[in-house]
Formats: sequence, structure tokens, C-alpha cells
Amino acid sequence: MDQNSQAVSKVTVPAILERKLRGEKITCVTACDYPAARLVDEAGIEIILVGDSLAQTVLGYDSTVPVTVEEMLHHLRAVRRGVRRALLIVDLPYGAYHISNEQALTSAIRFLKEGGAEAVKFEGGKERAGLVRRLVEAQIPVMGHIGLTPQSIHALGGYRVQGRTLDSATELVADAEALEEAGAFAIVLEGIPRELAALITRRLRIPTIGIGAGPDCDGQVLVFHDLVGLSYAPPAKFVRSYANLREMLHQVLTGFRADVVEGRYPNDQESYHWTAAMRQQFEKETTRLA
Ligand code: KIV
Repeated sequence: MDQNSQAVSKVTVPAILERKLRGEKITCVTACDYPAARLVDEAGIEIILVGDSLAQTVLGYDSTVPVTVEEMLHHLRAVRRGVRRALLIVDLPYGAYHISNEQALTSAIRFLKEGGAEAVKFEGGKERAGLVRRLVEAQIPVMGHIGLTPQSIHALGGYRVQGRTLDSATELVADAEALEEAGAFAIVLEGIPRELAALITRRLRIPTIGIGAGPDCDGQVLVFHDLVGLSYAPPAKFVRSYANLREMLHQVLTGFRADVVEGRYPNDQESYHWTAAMRQQFEKETTRLA
């Protein structure tokens, strides 16, 4: 039986909540195309996030701000085709939920109906509680995202660790509680001190998924391209790369070029051939014409 035909036990929103109750860690990795989705899903990762970080990792923008709903949908559909088991979540990009709750609902419904997402994630704390409620009323599971929220790059003045002061830590605890109260089923904690993440994790019934938030969260998320060493941005302190695909792929591509230029590729085994009969016929014909 190949991996594709094995029975799969689908990861659902309730299954994610149960993992926290059982004290089982949750893993989440981003994906933005079919091969990455297959790789992440087949590795048993519970959550696949079509994160708006794809703006930087695959589209070459310098922040997540420019990426559009259409671009996210394009990547979401490719990922959907590669996911069988994991829970599939998509980011609402900047501008897709800031105008009104109705606009946010329209964006989220498109992601579910046209892209096959099973939940949406968006950035913000207590100011988004009403929006979380609105989406949850429309049967759309919501994952929150607080701390270092990359869509606020201009307001924050850079990618800086949040919650370092008592005031800002207190605000973040209140944000997390407001999102839980509004019905979010999980919250990403990004770029906050370990101690604060541990405190929030203890106070919430829903799982916290950390990125740059230390080991005490209920789960961890990393960006696929960081994890495999395929990013061009200098890695943040919390990134652990399990491979250096950029270096490996550089060697692959320069190797291919050298083989072609120096006549080593393709070789005879990598070429198609005439049959012996056809060769004989051809030789006869060229002799006759000579
Ligand atoms: O867009 C993204 O990749 C994310 C993760 C960093 C959580 O939001």
C-alpha cells in the first residue's frame, strides 16, 4: 500500500483542542504549493498553514503587507490538492479584514468555498474579538495571532519582540483572553518572551502555538522555507533549520550547468534510441544516397 492510499485520520478543530487537554504537543508548518503540502502532510504535521509569509518566501515582497486575497487563494488551492490529513488553515492577508466585518466574512467564505480552507487566521487582539465572534457565528473556525504581528510592521516600526514590559505583557494576556472568549480555537503567539507565553498558555483552555515564544506553548509553528533552509532573509533567533536546501539546490543547479557545458549530460543511457531494424534501414538508405 503506498502512502497515498493508506487510511488517514483527519485532523479536525476538535482534535486540536483535545491535544491540549491530553497534553500532546501540536505541530504546524506553513506550505504554499503542492509539493510542500504533500511533504508536510505526509510527515504527520497536524496543522498546515497557508501563511501570508509566502509574500516574502515565495513572492519576493519585502513584507506581508502587499499580498492579496487572489494571490493567497492561488496558493491555497495548490496546497489543498496536496493535503489529506492535516487541518488546513489560511491567513487573511492585510486589507482583507480591516474595512468591516462583512468584508472579512466575504474573504473568509471565499477561502473556505473556493480554496478548501478549514479555518482562517488573522492578526490582532481584543480589537478583533467582535470579528472572531462574527466568523464563528458563520461556522468558520478562527485561529488568533498576537505578539509580533508582521502585518503591523509599519505601526510597530520593525519586527520587534513584544510583551517585554509589564504593560505590554498585561495587554497581551488580555488580548489572548479576549480571543478565547470570542470563540477562537487556538492562538499563535509570535515573538514574545518565553515567560509570557508560558503564562498565557496556562491561562487559556485553547491551545497556544508558538513561534519565537519558547518551548512552553501547546504547539510550535515554523515557516517551511526557514525549516528547510530555503529562505533568503537572515534567520531569526528562534529558527531551527533542519537542512540547507538553498546550498544543496545551488550545488544541484551549478552541477547541471557544468555537466551540459562539459558534455557529460545527457549520456547514452539518458537518450532515446532507434531499434536495431530502424538503424539498419537508416544506414542502408544513407549508403544508397551517398
Ligand atoms: O504567515 C505565517 O507564516 C505565519 C506564521 C509565522 C505563524 O503567520
